[in-house]
Amino acid sequence: MIQVILRGHKNIYDTRELTKLFDSEVEIYEEMAQLSREKDFVISRLEKDLTGTLRAAAQGKIQGKTAEHQRPVKIPDEKLQPREKALAYDKNQREALRSCLFMVLRELTGKKPVWGIFTGIRPVKIVQNMLEASMGCDEIFQTLTEEKFLEKDKARLLIDIAKEERALIYPLEQRALNIYVSIPFCPSRCYYCSFPSNDLYRKEGEVQQYLTKLIQELQASIKIINQKNIKVNTLYVGGGTPSILNREQFEALFAALQDLEGYSRLKEITVEAGRPDTFSMEVLQCLKDHGVGRISLNPQTMNEETLIAIGRKHSPEQIHQAYGMIRKVGFESVNMDLIIGLPGETEQSLDHTLEEIAKLQPENLTVHTLAIKTNSYLKEHQDLLTLGEEGVLKMLDKIEGFTKEHGYIPYYMYRQKNMLGNFENVGYSKKGGQSLYNMKIMSEKETILGFGAGAVSKVVNLKTDEVKRVPNIKGLGHYMDRIEEALEKKEEILKDF
Ligand SMILES: C[S@@+](CC[C@H](N)C(=O)[O-])C[C@H]1O[C@@H](n2cnc3c(N)ncnc32)[C@H](O)[C@@H]1O
Ligand code: SF4
Repeated sequence: MIQVILRGHKNIYDTRELTKLFDSEVEIYEEMAQLSREKDFVISRLEKDLTGTLRAAAQGKIQGKTAEHQRPVKIPDEKLQPREKALAYDKNQREALRSCLFMVLRELTGKKPVWGIFTGIRPVKIVQNMLEASMGCDEIFQTLTEEKFLEKDKARLLIDIAKEERALIYPLEQRALNIYVSIPFCPSRCYYCSFPSNDLYRKEGEVQQYLTKLIQELQASIKIINQKNIKVNTLYVGGGTPSILNREQFEALFAALQDLEGYSRLKEITVEAGRPDTFSMEVLQCLKDHGVGRISLNPQTMNEETLIAIGRKHSPEQIHQAYGMIRKVGFESVNMDLIIGLPGETEQSLDHTLEEIAKLQPENLTVHTLAIKTNSYLKEHQDLLTLGEEGVLKMLDKIEGFTKEHGYIPYYMYRQKNMLGNFENVGYSKKGGQSLYNMKIMSEKETILGFGAGAVSKVVNLKTDEVKRVPNIKGLGHYMDRIEEALEKKEEILKDF
């Protein structure tokens, strides 16, 4: 356990997130008196030096060793407006504090977190902002590795992905949006998942009721979008497992969606058919007939024992069959999700999964590192997890080798809380097959309207680079009972478009 005492500032959240990279148990105190001197501790300070310049500092003692680091707080550009200047100053203070704390903890623990001081979900955004500030790639690389302490390969990954994004989603459009439709039902709950999916087999009657409300929400917004002539770029139907809907239900959903005047001009339509045991040729044909171009079929692993262990009630063979059906109907873009670090998996298990994936050659491969989610079965059964940080690292190296060998490039990435080894999730694509929706949602540079229970809208203001999060109610029953609230929220968002 590490104790951290704050002096001259109250950045509790930042301090906790950063210290957690070095020890899972952290106590933060604001008073020296609370400190137990027998235990490991670090003091994080914000103070003025003798010349009156503001500086950050950290000093600590861990297992008898001591260390101290200091950094001046950068002064923001004089030309900034007062509000922007204050925000920049606050950001610089926090960053200097994080850097000092990182340097002290790295020196005292010997640990080197690969993502340096970055603890957020979207590190690419930081690089994107650097590119927007006209920094060159060499300068960005240097800043990432020397000031933010990222490992070189992670810095390169961020820069490569930011460049891909620039090529594909820039120039940015303020008056355009994307639609996300949530189908929060799954045939069973996977042991690692905390998604609030509702057990389909116990709530079958609710699927139809839910669809009615969802369509009501879509119709109300589509009417405004048409009236205001707002451009819609992409559509994503996700979940949960949307492919639990039958043909009639998909027909009804797409009838509502096709009221969108720009439907035929959408740049991309994706439907998640995550579990191979959920759909038929009839459903696939219906999706194809409604212009869906991209399907996500998610093996997670191609090892039978693991699939059983994680509660996904399908076999690897069913994945091959489902993939064959998708291709037979003529979909040109298929994504497959994998998870690294599932219970009982070894490097050999991953070799087998990759051999099977190599036979299929999907256009997109999304590789997640297992995250221990709060409301998942795995959270309570962590004894099932045998792979250490080294093991995860070796597997991620294998993924890198495999993707290079098979012509995949990384094109979007994000991080989550409580991931094994604090690594990352990376979306790979064959050249030209990048999913625009994934890039847009991760870059937060274009508004997403989320429809359905638990769906989150993200409203982007390009002028201020601010993103407003507007969530729909999570619980299925609450969403259906209070559908008016969802309609009002959408009206409010679209009013300003
Ligand atoms: C919200 S799920 C929806 C996809 C779909 N329902 C399925 O499972 O096939 C999106 C993806 O996130 C990944 N995922 C879910 N829980 C995870 C966890 N605890 N750790 C890492 N990845 C996870 C899985 O690869 C999953 O396919
Ligand atoms: S991983 Fe996908 S299929 Fe499994 S419970 Fe979560 S959302 Fe449902």
